Amino acid sequence: MKKYVISGGKPLNGEVSLSGGKNAVVGIIPAAVLVKGVCVIENVPAINDVADLVDIMKKMGADVRYLDEKTLRIDSTNVVSYVADYDAVRKLRASYYLIGALLGRFGHARVGLPGGCDFVERPIDYHIKGFEALGAIVDIKHGIVVADAEKLTGTSMNLDFPSVGATVNIMLAAVLAEGLTVIENAGKEPHIVDIANFLNAMGAQIKGAGTDVIKIKGVAELHGGHYEIIPDQIEAGTFMAAAAAAGGRVILRNVIPKHLESISAKIEESGAKVEEFDDYLIVSRDADSPIKNLNIKTLPYPGFPTDMQSQMAALLSRAGGTSIITETIFSHRFKYVDELRRMGAKMTVDGNICVIEGVDKLTGASVRACDLRTGVTLVIAALIAEGITEISDVRYIERGYENIVDKLRSLGADIKVVNDDTPAVTETKIS
Ligand code: EPZ
Repeated sequence: MKKYVISGGKPLNGEVSLSGGKNAVVGIIPAAVLVKGVCVIENVPAINDVADLVDIMKKMGADVRYLDEKTLRIDSTNVVSYVADYDAVRKLRASYYLIGALLGRFGHARVGLPGGCDFVERPIDYHIKGFEALGAIVDIKHGIVVADAEKLTGTSMNLDFPSVGATVNIMLAAVLAEGLTVIENAGKEPHIVDIANFLNAMGAQIKGAGTDVIKIKGVAELHGGHYEIIPDQIEAGTFMAAAAAAGGRVILRNVIPKHLESISAKIEESGAKVEEFDDYLIVSRDADSPIKNLNIKTLPYPGFPTDMQSQMAALLSRAGGTSIITETIFSHRFKYVDELRRMGAKMTVDGNICVIEGVDKLTGASVRACDLRTGVTLVIAALIAEGITEISDVRYIERGYENIVDKLRSLGADIKVVNDDTPAVTETKIS
């Protein structure tokens, strides 16, 4: 097990190229199960979720190999099993996409319930409702989703909530179904569009991805092809929040500014400057200038993304005045507050609202990541804290952030990776 040791108080300066989208690639890899042919997928981030999905795909009989460090070649022609490895599936949330993909390909799926970030209870009832609307019989037995369908037939459905996962999973089950499927109140996130674009590149007929009505015309089969993953919207937002918090001037390459509009607006409202160009942007803040307080309400895309609210809390912990974060996507997503309090943050949580009283300084402490975004939030807090912070359970961070230590170090951060059993260096003695 590893931990990060960060000595805070240094501005970030320089440039970093961001990676392919985690929430796009974790949908595209399972989607390749639907393709009887070779899919070549470029700009694949080297993150643990990808490694876990590759492992699951190989166990089902897919031929998966890297053509270079960022290009995956997947041939699912010889996949005959519709059973996914139970323990491997529990390692991440997005393994649930295998249900839709296997159901779409074989008319059967046996996939354990997903694992992944457990900051709150995360049901998959919308997914199951969608599969049943297409004609599948779905049950959960011994922790395994058992889905079977004589035939999948296109139909119209209206999601109770614009769920990212349910939108993608229903799309996966519908691409080879007979007839037209219409998903109303669909999610519009960039990664949903990316997964739809991948499927269309392989011969699917999906229209309307990125709007709240997606139409999928079933086709007989999908063929192989090439596809390049979009840049990671949340990785970009995370580095924007880090730059705004630490001060300095950071150039972020391999971004799509359009996907970052709600994040850029809040970063600028906090007192930093955001300059946008076609595929890169610059975030800067004079380290002596104040961080301004602001309010955030998370919403489905194009609103402010829930996956960015904790990173903003780290930034706002040092803002002058009071900031309020309202989480509307999940019933609760403030597990990081206890850890930030160890560093001197003044935050109170009441249900889905977090009130932040800005403080003059944070101090380094030994803290623990409890999920992906909490982990990276602690990194941002450590970058701006006085003294040394140790973050353990960094495996959560490495599920979704490629080479985050190297990237931050290249911007001037004092961060190193040590074994978890290395003696603590934070000031545990109170003078
Ligand atoms: C996806 O999760 C992302 N994960 C999450 O990112 C992200 O926070 C979330 O979308 C919202 O944008 C991946 O893409 C792998 P939802 P997902 O279905 O699909 C409820 C990260 O940090 N719901 O849009 O699980 C659900 O509980 C991760 O990268 C049901 O009630 O999110 C939540 O309150 C964390 N029943 C709301 O809907 C269902 O069947 C939105 O969830 C499905 C969801």
